[in-house]
Amino acid sequence: MLDQHKNETLTRVGTGTAMGDLLRRYWMPIAGVSEFDQVAIKPVRLMGEDLVLFRDLQGHFGLIDRHCSHRRADLLHGMVEQQGLRCSYHGWEFSATGACTAQPYEDLARPGHGLRGGAAVKAYPVQTKGGMVWAYLGPLPAPLVPDWEQFSWKNGFVQVVLSQLPCNWLQCQENSIDPVHFEWMHDNWGARLRDGPQAGRSARHLRVKFEEFEHGLVYKRMREGSDENDTAWTTGRVCLWPNGFFLGNHFEWRVPVDDENTLSVTWHYVHVPREQEPYVQGSIPTWIGPTHDEHGRWITSHVMNQDFVAWAGQGRIADRTREFLGASDGGIVMLRRRFLADLAAVAQGLDPKGILRDPRHNVRIELPSVRRNIAMHGLTRAEILANPVHRQTVLGYILQAGQPDWVRHRFEEAMGLKAQDYTGPLAGEPFMDRGSGPAR
Ligand code: FES
Ligand SMILES: [Fe+2]
Repeated sequence: MLDQHKNETLTRVGTGTAMGDLLRRYWMPIAGVSEFDQVAIKPVRLMGEDLVLFRDLQGHFGLIDRHCSHRRADLLHGMVEQQGLRCSYHGWEFSATGACTAQPYEDLARPGHGLRGGAAVKAYPVQTKGGMVWAYLGPLPAPLVPDWEQFSWKNGFVQVVLSQLPCNWLQCQENSIDPVHFEWMHDNWGARLRDGPQAGRSARHLRVKFEEFEHGLVYKRMREGSDENDTAWTTGRVCLWPNGFFLGNHFEWRVPVDDENTLSVTWHYVHVPREQEPYVQGSIPTWIGPTHDEHGRWITSHVMNQDFVAWAGQGRIADRTREFLGASDGGIVMLRRRFLADLAAVAQGLDPKGILRDPRHNVRIELPSVRRNIAMHGLTRAEILANPVHRQTVLGYILQAGQPDWVRHRFEEAMGLKAQDYTGPLAGEPFMDRGSGPAR
């Protein structure tokens, strides 16, 4: 049954016009709002298009063509105005809708010349939510930006992490429905990297299962030492449609830059210790996670860095005619079938899976989560420090290497504790995604 998915159709299922049309039906997170505290204009390559994202002097965002319609100057070097972006070459100005609103010399020399109408540049809708800027490149009317309930959680410290990866988005997303890789990539390989050949082996996966629901797929796992009452089996984790992963206190999105490049976007929330409440975060920091060390080698110390190595290692576009799917890949098959069904739906003019259009059904949407109560309501400092999984979330950023000191300091301030001051048991424990247990 699995073999039928080893075919040419799937070789490039993550690429091409049809898949591009499909993905354009969804809002994509493309930047952190706080990035615009330092710069007003950011280059963005998205779905194979070169664009600039800007925040004008009134604070409104716009996403328009990277190049000016006059003589193609790079609008990255433009200047933001009250309502739009002005090209620095000859001063033509563009609104967030792409309309050309000023052509200074033309307006003087040939008033009423009517050039402006044909001088519009392409533009796409943008919205902000969760401290991120979201873009929509598809046909209008645009659907709604999903209002996941986590974006409204209180008393938490949120950070947004961006990384550029040299591979197609779909092989990254297939990782979101791949439970067994945790045991090997994060547990066993992670231990080998730290401890060498004498490293122990983690609990084996005994069973996995995959289910579909309104907003994506779910995987459930049972590992040695757990049973059918374990939340890893009863609740599981969410492969969020079409290109996200939700793990209880954080989201990951694999945003298509083009067929061969992906922007990894992580939204990460940690509830402050109860003693720190009420806590209101002033600004959600955004930082760029490095993928390589100073010697040019891939970083492998942190959970998502390990994933990045796997995804990029599959090639710029994974060759699915040369893979060998097995029992661990039931979720991969389910995901590919779903995408093929979505492609057929879009070809018929229908909405693909997970599109939200009814505002009444887009209010703090709850997703399956094994750590919802703890994440929402928090724990005391003592409770956090007594549990290795919770402790990890406050003593270090476990997902990616390279968190800047200024983010770390803000985080420590919010948590009311510093990693270096912690001297309790298991200080310095490895950064690992344990993949199971009550908090995961
Ligand atoms: S190239 Fe932009 S105004 Fe001339
Ligand atoms: Fe992983």
